[in-house]
Amino acid sequence: MSDNPKLQRLRTLKAQARLGGGIERIEVQHKKGRLTARERIDLLLDPGSFRELDTLALHRCHDFGLDQQRYLGDGVVTGWGTIEGRQVFIFSQDFTVLGGSLGEIHAQKICKVMDLAMKNGAPLIGINDSGGARIQEGIDALAGYGDVFLRNTLASGVIPQISLIMGPCAGGAVYSPALTDFIFMVRGSSQMFVTGPEVVKAVTHEEVTFEQLGGADVHAQLSGVAHRVAESEAEALSLTRQLLGYLPSNNMSDPPFVASSDDPARTEEALDDLVPDDPSRAYDIKAVLNLIVDDGQFFELQESFAPNIVIGFARLGGYSVGIIANQPAVLAGVLDIHAAEKAARFVRFCDAFNIPLVTFVDVPGFMPGTAQEHGGVIRAGAKLLHAYCEATVPKLTVITRKAYGGAYIVMSSKHLRSDLNLAWPSAEIAVMGPEGAMNIIFRKELEASTNPTQRKAELVQEYREKFANPYVAAARGYIDDVIEPRETRPRLIEGLQMLINKRDTNPPKKHGNIPL
Ligand code: HXC
Repeated sequence: MSDNPKLQRLRTLKAQARLGGGIERIEVQHKKGRLTARERIDLLLDPGSFRELDTLALHRCHDFGLDQQRYLGDGVVTGWGTIEGRQVFIFSQDFTVLGGSLGEIHAQKICKVMDLAMKNGAPLIGINDSGGARIQEGIDALAGYGDVFLRNTLASGVIPQISLIMGPCAGGAVYSPALTDFIFMVRGSSQMFVTGPEVVKAVTHEEVTFEQLGGADVHAQLSGVAHRVAESEAEALSLTRQLLGYLPSNNMSDPPFVASSDDPARTEEALDDLVPDDPSRAYDIKAVLNLIVDDGQFFELQESFAPNIVIGFARLGGYSVGIIANQPAVLAGVLDIHAAEKAARFVRFCDAFNIPLVTFVDVPGFMPGTAQEHGGVIRAGAKLLHAYCEATVPKLTVITRKAYGGAYIVMSSKHLRSDLNLAWPSAEIAVMGPEGAMNIIFRKELEASTNPTQRKAELVQEYREKFANPYVAAARGYIDDVIEPRETRPRLIEGLQMLINKRDTNPPKKHGNIPL
C-alpha cells in the first residue's frame, strides 16, 4: 500500500464514511435485529456490483448544534448495481446517522439516483429507515421531501419503484413510499404512520402502540399500504429480487422472458372437476392458478388485504403476466371497495409496464349494504372499470363460474376491449343470480301462487337453463370460446403468443380522470 498522504487521507475518509454513525450505533442497530444501510445493499444486489455515489457528502446546517454532528454520506447510502445482471438504482437510509433523518443534502443524494434511474430507464429501490424530516434543518428538510415526492410522481409509470420499509417511516416521509409501486415491510420491525402515537393521544385521546398504529400487519391487512410482509430483512430483500424478475426495467421495454421446463401444452385434468356443481359452494382460486401457471409459481401481492380478490405475478410459457382473480373462497368472491381498489391499481401497474393481464372471473356481483354504498363503492368500482377500459396491454379472461351483472362487465369483459375471453362450461353469465332475478321479475306471480316455493324452483331452473351458462354469451361473440378447463394453460399461452405484437392506443389527452 502506498503511503502517499493524499491517498491516506482519501482512504481514511472512505473508511470513516463506511462506519456511518459509528460502531456503537451500528451495534444498537444490530441489537434491534436490523441490518445497516450498507449490509442491506450488499444482501440485495449481485455480489460486488454496488457502486456508491456521494460517499463524502456533508450537510451544511449550523442550527441546534448540528454543525457538531457531520457524518460523511449524510445518513443515506446511494448508488447503482445489478440484480440478476440487470441495472438498478438504490438509496438506503442509515439510521445510525441522525436517525436516518432527511435533510437538504440527504435529499439531494436521493434525487441524484432518482434522476439517474429515470435517464437510464432502470428500476429504483428505496430502503427506508428514518425518523423523517431532519428537524434541525427546518424548511430545507421539507423542501427535500418535496423534491423526492415530485420525482416519485414523475417516475411513476416510467420505471418500477420499490420501497422497503426496514425501520420507522414517520410523518410526511411515508408519502415517498406511498407514491411508489410496491411497499414491502418486515414483521415486528417496520412501521409507517403519518402521525405517531403521542400526537394521536393528544388529538384523539387514543392509546396506541407504534405496532398497533402502523406495523406491518396493520398495513398488510387493514390499510392495504403494504404489498408483502417478510419475516426478516433478508426475506424482504430476497422478495425484491424475485419481484424484479417479473418486471421490465422501464415502460419502453418488455418484461424478461424466462423459459421454463414446464410444458406450455400441459393440460390439467384436475381442473375439470375443481369447480363444485353447487354454485353456492366455495373453492380456492389459488389452487386453480397454481395448476395453470409455469411451475405453479405465483408471486402474490396484498394477500391479506381484500382477500376476496387475488392479484400477483406469474409466468405462462415464459411470459410474465399480471393475474387478477376473484376468490370464491372469501365472501364468495364479491367485489367490494377494497377489492376494486386493490385490483385497479394492479391493472394500471401492469398496463404501464407492458405486462399482459390475465383475469379469472367468479364473481356474484358487488357487495350490497350501506357501509359499502356510503363508503363509496360506486367510486371504487368505477376505478376498476376505468383501469380495465384504459389498459392497452394484451387482456385475457377466463370465466370459471359466476359472472353476474356489473361485475361481469368490470372483470375484463369483451365490452372493455379484452382480447381473448374464454369460459369454462361451468360459467354462468347473467344479469344477476337466478334466485334474485326470479324474485324481481316474477314477484307478483310468486305472491299469487298457491305453492310459491315450487313455482320459484321451476322458474329458477328455467332461468338457469336459459342464462346460467356460457352459451348465450358465446352465441353473441362476447365469449370467444368455451373450453374444457383442463386446456386452460395451453389456451392462455397460445393467446399470449397470438397477442405478442398487439398494438392499441387511447385517444390523445393529457391524462384521464380516474374516479380517485
Ligand atoms: C433529527 C432525529 C429525528 C429527526 C430521530 N432523530 N428522528 N434527528 N430529526 N426527525 C435522532 C434522535 O435525536 C437520535 O439522536 C437518533 O436519531 C435516534 O433516535 P431515537 O429516538 O434515539 O431512536 P428510537 O428510540 O429508535 O426512535 C426512533 C423514532 C424516534 C421512533 C423514529 O426517533 C422518533 O419518533 N423520531 C421522530 C419521528 C417523527 O415524528 N418524525 C416526523 C418529523 S416531521 P441521538 O443523537 O440522540 O442518538 C416529518 C414531516 C415530513 O417527517 C413532511 C414531509 C412533507
